[in-house]
Amino acid sequence: PNEPPLVFHWFPVLGSTITYGMDPYKFFFSNRAKRQHGDVFTFILLGRKMTVCLDTKGNNFILNGKIKDVNAEEIYNPLSGPVFGKDVVYDCPNSKLMEQKKFVKFGLTQESLRSYVTLITAEVEDFLKRHKDFKGQKGAFNVPKVMAELTIYTASRSLQGEEVRNMFDSRFAALYTDLDMGFSPINFMLPWAPLPHNRKRDVARETMIKVYGDIVRKRRSGAVKKESPDMIWHLMDCKYKDGTQVPDHEIAGIMIALLMAGQHSSSSTIAWILLRLATKPEIIEELLAEQKAILGEDLPSLTYDDLQRLPLHAQVVKETLRLHAPIHSIMRKVKQPLVIDGTNYTVPTSHTLMSSPGVSAQMDEHFPNPAVWDPHRWDAGANNFEGAEDEEKIDYGWGVVSKGTNSPYLPFGAGRHRCIGEQFAYLQLQTILVAFVREFKLKNPGGSRDIVGTDYSSLFSKPLTPGIVEWERRGK
Ligand code: HEM
Repeated sequence: PNEPPLVFHWFPVLGSTITYGMDPYKFFFSNRAKRQHGDVFTFILLGRKMTVCLDTKGNNFILNGKIKDVNAEEIYNPLSGPVFGKDVVYDCPNSKLMEQKKFVKFGLTQESLRSYVTLITAEVEDFLKRHKDFKGQKGAFNVPKVMAELTIYTASRSLQGEEVRNMFDSRFAALYTDLDMGFSPINFMLPWAPLPHNRKRDVARETMIKVYGDIVRKRRSGAVKKESPDMIWHLMDCKYKDGTQVPDHEIAGIMIALLMAGQHSSSSTIAWILLRLATKPEIIEELLAEQKAILGEDLPSLTYDDLQRLPLHAQVVKETLRLHAPIHSIMRKVKQPLVIDGTNYTVPTSHTLMSSPGVSAQMDEHFPNPAVWDPHRWDAGANNFEGAEDEEKIDYGWGVVSKGTNSPYLPFGAGRHRCIGEQFAYLQLQTILVAFVREFKLKNPGGSRDIVGTDYSSLFSKPLTPGIVEWERRGK
């Protein structure tokens, strides 16, 4: 069979690990520019053969692959299993994951989303009052570091509920850090190795499962009243199709998975938003003007309905995700030899497929001047690729999504593994953005228009630290 071309490399096992690892986008773009490659090629990553399929055809081929052809759990579970625990996400058959995604998606009700806007706003205001970097009338802060702290509070207070939020002030934070080390890059090779960080990960997971278990039991006993809806309350009421309740350790596992998925993606994205705005302070003034024009000069407390009425705020998030999608590589195992759409290449089962929708989002064929961060490129729905009406739809039980993925803009993925956190992510990011715009003017030191580089060393990419931005409090 005719296999895709192999990227040239000097050393057998190492292959392209270093060039890919330093900057995956640079690696993808320079390889697709080679005449003998194009959008489909294979490279060696830590001894494994990875076949990359780029642009909209490639995105569609991998992300909409049939379950008999491509598989996510065999690739991801060695890494995520020891972090999330048993019987959830990739530690179970795909049909069970689809049900778990349905539980979560349906738990993000209008009522809960409404309450989250209020809770998140309160957390941000409180954080800005007590954080040492925001004392006085002006100062500077390390954006990626401070945003990682803030989003832990906002995400836990809303999605995770009051008990978990309160524990983040004390012992939960250390547990979270230990658990997070389960995703360190070395674990791609050695997830089960008896290394100190893996022991800590396992202790942290068991402790966290116990903590969530205690919360559930206490709530079930009636000792805690339901004051506002959160995901734990919702999961306690969910039933699988066969009529069984979600066991306590699965509630814990789903909550840990949501904590991890939500934290990394949102903290990196809000950091990029503020870093980008500091390169174009004039956009911050436009955002404030938008709030005043639509919500009123006196800037009343933000509500969920207000968020739908602030298009430029949404476009800032959308444009930031175009250039800085936190997930740069999506992987699938090949289950049977596959002919790659639009080519005469066949990928054998020994290869892993790799998709990177961030590449089509940065191609000049789809986005003029792709490297320029410009929220106005989405004005008046221009270039709005999402939800193309004429595309065939498919229902996965947790939602209906486009069958053919013709869009070059897919920061939340596509197909059966598509993100279910998009709505919550937008809500959280926009709510934090609204609060910062009201409180501060932001700019880079010396008025520079430069942007920091990207740290690709983990599963989720993020801005390199430090990324220092200067703030000045607005007169009230
Ligand atoms: C899946 C991106 C926030 C929960 C995904 C995928 C992407 C993605 C690209 C597909 C992965 C794959 O195909 O292998 C993002 C981005 C976010 C974000 C860019 C924020 C800016 C969240 C949040 C939550 C969440 C806040 C939780 C509330 C999930 C879940 C899946 C998923 C449960 C499904 C995994 C699967 O089916 O295999 N996300 N995500 N995400 N995300 Fe998100």
